[in-house]
Amino acid sequence: MAGPPRLLDLGCGGGRNTTVLAETGLAFFGMDFAHRPLLAARARPGVGPSRLVQASMKALLPFRDDTFSLVTAFTSLENVTEDERLEGLAREVRRVLCPGGLFFAYFLTPDDGYYLPLINRDSMGRNLTYDPVTDLRQRVYRVEELGALFEPSFSLLESETFSFPDVRSGAVHQRRLASAIWQRRAEAGEPA
Ligand SMILES: C[S@@+](CC[C@H](N)C(=O)[O-])C[C@H]1O[C@@H](n2cnc3c(N)ncnc32)[C@H](O)[C@@H]1O
Repeated sequence: MAGPPRLLDLGCGGGRNTTVLAETGLAFFGMDFAHRPLLAARARPGVGPSRLVQASMKALLPFRDDTFSLVTAFTSLENVTEDERLEGLAREVRRVLCPGGLFFAYFLTPDDGYYLPLINRDSMGRNLTYDPVTDLRQRVYRVEELGALFEPSFSLLESETFSFPDVRSGAVHQRRLASAIWQRRAEAGEPA
């Protein structure tokens, strides 16, 4: 495909990471299901309206096969709470990535000091949360748990956890998030 390599940020929100991601030299595409944050992202430097797409991560991604070299998700996978939806998303991310393409996720873990008291572990072992402050129902993942759901489509290259104090709702919490980089698996007969 002509032009610079492309980067898709899933659940880009108001584009907190947009300027930095746009500075990578990759052609930046942001996707979010909410209209309002996309308007804020649109005002960020280096992002044209044609590169911001309103669509849900829970549906088929509105991009052609082999479009992106890198797909990222910064604290947005938490909104995909069902295993089958996440497996579907993994298949879609794999489909839109070029051979050898990477998927980077930064996500809340069940050890996160803010979410820990809000976790309700269900009979399937999923760590579900309800935050009355934001009225959001989410799911927090361990790296291995996300890995198991992405495994058929991806190989884990590296992962890291981050722990830092953070003020939220007027109190200090020891936050614990993780990042992981997965590589799209090659299909039979395709170069790795
Ligand atoms: C915590 S915010 C993170 C925003 C941004 N990635 C950042 O780091 O600043 C989560 C974002 O995911 C978006 N989101 C939630 N569910 C989604 C879905 N099903 N499809 C696409 N975006 C979704 C929300 O609208 C929100 O902008």
